[in-house]
Amino acid sequence: MVTRQFPRPAELLELMQFKKPELDARKRRLDAALTIYDLRTIAKRRTPKAAFDYTDGAAEGELSLARARQAFEDVEFHPDVLRPAENVDMSTEILGGPSALPFGIAPTGFTRLMQTEGEIAGAGAAGAAGIPFTLSTLGTTSIEGVKAANPNGRNWFQLYVMRDREISYNLARRAAEAGFDTLQFTVDTPVAGARLRDKRNGFSIPPQLTLGTIINAIPRPWWWYDFLTTPKLEFASLSTTGGTVGELLNAAMDPTISYDDLAIIRDIWPGKIVVKGVQNVADSKRLIDAGVDGIILSNHGGRQLDRAPIPFRLLPEVVREVGKDATVMVDTGIMNGADIVASIALGAKFTLIGRAYLYGLMAGGRQGVDRTIAILRSEIERTMKLLGVSSIAELEPRHVTQLQRLVPVGVSAPAAEAPATSAPRARAPRTTATSAPKTDAAASRPAKPSAAKTTGSATKA
Ligand SMILES: Cc1cc2nc3c(=O)[nH]c(=O)nc-3n(C[C@H](O)[C@H](O)[C@H](O)COP(=O)(O)O)c2cc1C
Repeated sequence: MVTRQFPRPAELLELMQFKKPELDARKRRLDAALTIYDLRTIAKRRTPKAAFDYTDGAAEGELSLARARQAFEDVEFHPDVLRPAENVDMSTEILGGPSALPFGIAPTGFTRLMQTEGEIAGAGAAGAAGIPFTLSTLGTTSIEGVKAANPNGRNWFQLYVMRDREISYNLARRAAEAGFDTLQFTVDTPVAGARLRDKRNGFSIPPQLTLGTIINAIPRPWWWYDFLTTPKLEFASLSTTGGTVGELLNAAMDPTISYDDLAIIRDIWPGKIVVKGVQNVADSKRLIDAGVDGIILSNHGGRQLDRAPIPFRLLPEVVREVGKDATVMVDTGIMNGADIVASIALGAKFTLIGRAYLYGLMAGGRQGVDRTIAILRSEIERTMKLLGVSSIAELEPRHVTQLQRLVPVGVSAPAAEAPATSAPRARAPRTTATSAPKTDAAASRPAKPSAAKTTGSATKA
């Protein structure tokens, strides 16, 4: 039997504590974004289709990217209980310097296309958060401009070795002079991947106006206002004759780059040098043996070879082969701080974010990049606390199982025989690795690869 009473004014008043409305529309929009996928949704709404698709898209059927994201979702964490982790130290050492968080910003080309603040927003936000920022050879802000935006923080430079070698060497010299401390030598781009969305959208550099772009511009007036009232959008370090991104890359890149180029760059570059785009164990070993300061397991965010190996899945075997003291980093598919925690637990020394940063940029310029970093920071912190871990160094392979979905076919494929887990072997085998739950955010993601079968036991006893 329920006892009823008249509503009391004092209790009603208590319920009616309305929050002061946020008058800054950008802040309101960004505060409402709780995940990187939320930022992606805002970005899509605010950015012209061709620019959004250039960023969001990948190569061919976009399977490399979808599989990389799936692999992060197919992580099972193993927390320890009754291990207080009230204060979590998320800082780490990477390539001879500090980083307040275990991730940095990856190099991205043509960044001012996404939002006019471009690299200035990225470098400024990275500097404020105490993490490294990487400027691409195909950047839209000069080396000196990035240095000015992030004068006291760590700046890294990404180098493409081009047909005209002197252009590349001079860029490296300029970056060294400006105090950039690390060079990322990208090696997964002998030719451009097939970015089919760009072709379908008729996207070119510099952007061309068509009837379609004009119609698409109508609901996105702020992007166009920025585009038309700020300095011309162009590569800051290269002069180009125009074309699709693929055509420009093919004209500039040299498919014959080799270990000889690495030796030459080594001579030119005074700081740390890492090779970006490594995709197998043998190359990882050879590069570490050759004396590079680190490698980045990456398939370029799925923008080059489609159906490429998933960098996060390569991680345990690469770390086992090159030794846990070697600097192995990983990128591609990171959309959540938990993805970063899982990578570090499996032996990565550091991670890089590409699109997660660009979604923030498109959603709200500098404040949007700040929001990306804040979301990832809180996800990393929460995941570490829930695992019972209070520092990066305490994260270990035993905290993570990679659930198995795609399994090599045939007896001769060695990975098919390898344990799918780095977790303790004594754990009881799982019968099926279930699909990740579908959420609204999941619904807006690229289609999952239809051939990806959920298979077998996640842990092999
Ligand atoms: C729009 C865009 C442009 C990129 N441009 C470059 C580039 O100029 N040089 C490079 O080495 N990598 C480039 N990348 C790859 C990133 O550095 C990084 O490897 C990738 O974005 C990681 O995957 P994620 O986007 O899923 O985080 C680009 C990625 C995107 C999304």
